[in-house]
Amino acid sequence: MVSGGGLSIDSAVIESQSRNCENAGVHVVRHPLVEHHVTRMRRATTRPSEFRDLVRRLATLMAYEATQDLPTAHHRVQTPLAEADGVQLRGRIGLIPILRAGLGMVDPVLDLLPMAEVWHLGLYRDESTAQPVRYYDKLPPKRPVDVALVLDPMLATGGSATAALMTLREWGVPRVKVLSLIAAQEGLDSVAAQFPEAQIYICQIDPELNAQKFIVPGLGDAGDRIFNTIQPAE
Ligand code: PRP
Repeated sequence: MVSGGGLSIDSAVIESQSRNCENAGVHVVRHPLVEHHVTRMRRATTRPSEFRDLVRRLATLMAYEATQDLPTAHHRVQTPLAEADGVQLRGRIGLIPILRAGLGMVDPVLDLLPMAEVWHLGLYRDESTAQPVRYYDKLPPKRPVDVALVLDPMLATGGSATAALMTLREWGVPRVKVLSLIAAQEGLDSVAAQFPEAQIYICQIDPELNAQKFIVPGLGDAGDRIFNTIQPAE
C-alpha cells in the first residue's frame, strides 16, 4: 500500500495504471489532482454531497483532456481596441449521459461546452445477470451529432458502454469519446476491442471484477452514491 494525505491506494491499482495499454484508443488521465480526487471518491466514508462534488471536479478535468482535439475554425473578433484572430469550436457536440450515474457528469461538462446537445440513454444492469437493460432512449432518428461524449462514471463489464456505443453507431455518429472515472481492465479491453474507433478516457483502471461483477477495489455503486440511494442491509 502507498499513502498520501492520509488516504491509501492499493498497489494493484497502481500496477494496473502503469500496465502498458495495448488499446490505442484508451487514454488514462494521469494528473495529481485526478488521483487525489479519485482516492477521496473511493473512500467508503465519503458522504454523497462530497461524492457529487468529486464527480463534478473529475468530469471537468476529464472533459478538458478529452476535448483537446475538437475541431475548430478560424474566427475573427473585434476587441474593444482592435481586431483579433481566434477560433471557435466547429460541429455539433452531443453529451450522452447513461442514466442514472452519468447525470452527475452532465453539468460540469456542459459548463465547458455550453453549446452541446444532451441526449439521454437509460440503461441499468440487471443484478442477477449483470447484463444491461435499456429503458430509455432519447436519441432522434436522424441528424447525428458530429462528436458524442458518452458520460458514465463506471465501466465494469463494459456491457452498458457497449450498448450505448452500439446505439451511437446505429445513429451514425462519426466520432465517439467515452468518459468514465473508473474502469475494470476486462471491461475496458472488451469495449476497446469492439469499438477500436472510439476514444475512451479513464481516470483509473482497476484490476478486477468480483463475483457480482462489481469493480474491485472500485468505489461501490456510483449511481447510489451520487443520489444517496444506498439501502441499509436488512
Ligand atoms: C452502473 C454504472 C454503469 C454500469 C457499469 O450503472 O453507472 O452504467 O453500471 O456496469 P457494466 O460496465 O457492467 O455495464 P447501474 O446499472 O448501477 O445503474 P445506475 O446508474 O442507475 O445506478
